Amino acid sequence: MDSSHKQKCLSTNLFFFFLLLSTNLITLLLSSIFYSSSSSCSLNPITTITTTSAASTSNHDEDHLPPEFLAFTSAYQLPFGFNTNFDSDTMLAPVGRACTQFPVHLRHYMSYNVNGSCPDDELLAQKLLLKGCEPLPRRRCRAAAPKNYVEPHPLPASFWTTPADSSVVWTAYTCKNYECLINRRRTQKGFDDCKDCFDLQGRESSRWRQTQGSGLDFSIDQVLAAKPPGTIRIGLDIGGGVATFAVRMRERNITIVTTSMNLNGPFNNFIASRGVVPLYISISQRLPFFDNTLDIIHSMHVLSNWIPTKLLHFVLFDIYRVLRPGGVFWLDHFFCDEEQFEQVYAPLIESVGFNKLKWVVGRKLDRGPELREMYLSALLEKPLNNSW
Ligand SMILES: *[C@@H]1O[C@H](CO)[C@@H](O)[C@H](O)[C@H]1NC(C)=O
Ligand SMILES: *[C@@H]1O[C@H](CO)[C@@H](O)[C@H](O)[C@H]1NC(C)=O
Repeated sequence: MDSSHKQKCLSTNLFFFFLLLSTNLITLLLSSIFYSSSSSCSLNPITTITTTSAASTSNHDEDHLPPEFLAFTSAYQLPFGFNTNFDSDTMLAPVGRACTQFPVHLRHYMSYNVNGSCPDDELLAQKLLLKGCEPLPRRRCRAAAPKNYVEPHPLPASFWTTPADSSVVWTAYTCKNYECLINRRRTQKGFDDCKDCFDLQGRESSRWRQTQGSGLDFSIDQVLAAKPPGTIRIGLDIGGGVATFAVRMRERNITIVTTSMNLNGPFNNFIASRGVVPLYISISQRLPFFDNTLDIIHSMHVLSNWIPTKLLHFVLFDIYRVLRPGGVFWLDHFFCDEEQFEQVYAPLIESVGFNKLKWVVGRKLDRGPELREMYLSALLEKPLNNSW
């Protein structure tokens, strides 16, 4: 272990003591006082992760946080002293605020041999992440990797070729090879996210190629035609399954990054094997792009009424933020109940400030008409001028 964690200085322990006694407001106050008077103790954990909602039940957690978690999240003195960019003389590494609310998961996740091999614990990591421990803490061990990895298929064959089974660590998934994933729509009962997506010869092969019956299915070419030729160059697909959208755009020389979780399937590996970029972040996290930068954001079947409405409001404004003026948000098959649409979602989407280039509403019938579910497909543009 790091020596920095053995030599706790008295003031830190005092601080932990206060933490035990205090409400979070007082904690905040104390921590700011403490922070300004503790520069002599900078190798120790200066700032403590406080847990708002868990504070009443688990005030002792701070004492039992795994050493490697403290090693990562402690404030460290910058080797060259005060840094004007940081406006600080210390460096503090970020983790999701909820990490410490799940001390058992966290302890497992952060228990490993430093410099050694990490446990094969993808499922645990993803569970922790989806509970709000996002970003996960970094670890000082080698992530589980396939034993006999083979080089990926070369471009452009990689776009539409199933990768080798040996490119994946299968522990976390029900299926243990790609053939199983390809066939699971026919052979497996029950729900799975993107159940038929791994079959590149199936439905994936025709997605977004043509506009179809109901008008809810826009084609990529139809969407691109809404903007001057060549001005859609870079973008993001939120919850993009196996990244067929990115592959189709790549065929048009447009670069798309695809966010995906690995929900009972190696989505991130598969996307990368195809030769486009996967981004392993959940829907909850602030988009890791700067304001006014992307030409297009697409999202299908992900932004829907399963997301708490207030959080969805934050998501929509975040999308607006990273789109450049004139950039477009293709909201593809958003779904909800009919009443919700009129009362909640239409006003919510309209409140953000987009121009409506397309707005198509239709029935969602796959679970039966009696549920009165509906879809919205929309093409929304961030205004070119006065978007602020
Ligand atoms: C890990 O490697 C670093 C760099 O060689 C070394 O300083 C540290 O002591 C090692 N830690 C353990 C627990 O082996
Ligand atoms: C993509 O870019 C390449 C190289 O610049 C070019 O030859 C090709 O015609 C472009 N394809 C499309 C569909 O624009």
